[in-house]
Amino acid sequence: MNGERTERRLILAIETSCDETAVAVVADGTEVLSNVVSSQIDLHATFGGVVPEVASRAHLDKLETVTAEAMDRAGVSPTDLHGIAATCGPGLIGALLIGVSAAKALAMAWDLPYVGVNHMEGHLFATFLEKPDLEPPVVVLLVSGGHTMIVEVAEPGRYRYLGSTIDDAAGEAFDKVARYLGLGYPGGPIIDRLAADGDAGAVRFPRAMMDDGFDFSFSGLKTAVVNYVRRHPEVDNADIAAAFQDAVVDVLVTKTIRAALAVGARTVCLGGGVAANSQLRARFAAEAEAAGLAHLVPDRAFCTDNAAMIAAAGHWRLRNDGPTGLDGGADPSLKLPVTRS
Ligand code: KG4
Ligand code: ZN
Repeated sequence: MNGERTERRLILAIETSCDETAVAVVADGTEVLSNVVSSQIDLHATFGGVVPEVASRAHLDKLETVTAEAMDRAGVSPTDLHGIAATCGPGLIGALLIGVSAAKALAMAWDLPYVGVNHMEGHLFATFLEKPDLEPPVVVLLVSGGHTMIVEVAEPGRYRYLGSTIDDAAGEAFDKVARYLGLGYPGGPIIDRLAADGDAGAVRFPRAMMDDGFDFSFSGLKTAVVNYVRRHPEVDNADIAAAFQDAVVDVLVTKTIRAALAVGARTVCLGGGVAANSQLRARFAAEAEAAGLAHLVPDRAFCTDNAAMIAAAGHWRLRNDGPTGLDGGADPSLKLPVTRS
């Protein structure tokens, strides 16, 4: 790119809210030039979950290399960029601060605007990365390790909660059930693989709040799994994985389709780490089609934590709201700017 600013607006984004050190360069909020993710899973696996202090140190270790790799793969130099974005919440405070401080330092050194991005808004923008012309209103099922919610997107920046979990997030339920079964961490991908060899009909686990609005509850399901395995120690883990996954997917898909029809949405989308789940992706697409809804199931790389989605949201926020001040910090409990219906 020989150092000249191009017509396209290039955003470099940093994501360090949990256990992935990720940097991406995205043009015009939609064209992914590079999307580098360095996972810390191996570091945390021995502890059975993310250790915040270990996560912060690993981000610090990796961020410089990952940033250089993202710039290199995109073929850009600092003078090609138009802004630096970083996830400023929600997430682990120490981990967030590493990304935010690095982004602000780069913005200052390269004389570029900085923009702080809400991680959940990033997951919502992952859908626009693949299909910028999604016809609104769009209903998005956001399912991650920390959140489970159905959000109506009237347009970028205008969000309404249609439902959310009243206890555990769906990803948390996957992780807790996997830990109880001694399968390892993170539980989602392991249960996904194991379930492929199991019989989902072997046990009928409860579908909590199935006919009760658009909120979710997963803590009872986790307890039901624990109680069942205690009473039937001989049961095959693959059958438990398949039956558990079937119960989670059933509730997630049924409620999202109902919510979309209730608000007159034209399109339904999936986002968040649990959206990488094979059965969820397949059933979501099939049931949306049966209900006459357009649907978008993003590439797995854009469902789990990544910085391309932060760049997409940052691009839009920068244009819409302008830069975040360099005194802007990180908020571990940052909420999506929404109204509850
Ligand atoms: O969005 P994400 O990468 O990080 C958070 O913001 O939480 O989501 C991580 C969650 C974890 O709970 C992980 O077990 C789950 O997503 N997950 C999956 C799959 N891949 C990741 N859950 C079910 N099936 C999968 N294939
Ligand atoms: Zn996430």
